[in-house]
Amino acid sequence: MESVFSSINKFSGFTLLFVFLLSCSSTFTSTEAYDAVDTGGNITIKWDVMSWTPDGYVGVVTIYNFQKHHQIKAPGWRLGWTWAKKEIIWSMVGSQTTEQGDCSRFKGNIPHSCNKDPTVVDLSPKTPFNQQISNCCRGGVLKPWDASSFQLSVGAAGTTNKTVRMPKHFTLNAPGNAYTCGPPQIVQPTKFITQHKKRVTRALMTWIVICKYS
Ligand SMILES: *[C@@H]1O[C@H](CO)[C@@H](O)[C@H](O)[C@H]1NC(C)=O
Ligand SMILES: *[C@@H]1O[C@H](CO)[C@@H](O)[C@H](O)[C@H]1NC(C)=O
Repeated sequence: MESVFSSINKFSGFTLLFVFLLSCSSTFTSTEAYDAVDTGGNITIKWDVMSWTPDGYVGVVTIYNFQKHHQIKAPGWRLGWTWAKKEIIWSMVGSQTTEQGDCSRFKGNIPHSCNKDPTVVDLSPKTPFNQQISNCCRGGVLKPWDASSFQLSVGAAGTTNKTVRMPKHFTLNAPGNAYTCGPPQIVQPTKFITQHKKRVTRALMTWIVICKYS
């Protein structure tokens, strides 16, 4: 009889251990448990100058979520910066600024934003296709290892890679999270491979900003 009891005890001991391990592994797969591990992640903002215009340039800004376990949830990311001089945004595709600011010095063509420190938000997925660019318009939601892009036409800016000025004081906010962003750094111009992989084009100038969860 004794041996029967001891084997039952052993059995329930194993069961308990098994249940315990199971509960541990389910804790570790939840997002919170990975916070400590995710400190190596970052959000990288890449700013590509695509073409010069008579008074500035057309740029494409891409936000990469290089965090393994942090999704940016609705109502989504808000990206801000401070212009170096008197730059304005003539137009945007795939996003918008939250405020137009004071554009009273303009007659005729009115800029999209004249704010010294604009805040940009994503558009909704219901945005008409002719007002989208690729990787835009997800209502600010950004999954791990995903990217979000928008295009902007900047005026009152430099028109060569020697006279153009990088914006300063980047800020990135997400629901429940603030990120701390470093200064922009000039990097090798991005190369773009066209759809049929027949041709490679290059940005005229590229800078990146690294933001970390704080
Ligand atoms: C940001 O994350 C990317 C992707 O993991 C990595 O290649 C890059 O080195 C990171 N940059 C910094 C400054 O942490
Ligand atoms: C500016 O343009 C010149 C000529 O195309 C190029 O050699 C130089 O590397 C560019 N500088 C930057 C910062 O991209």
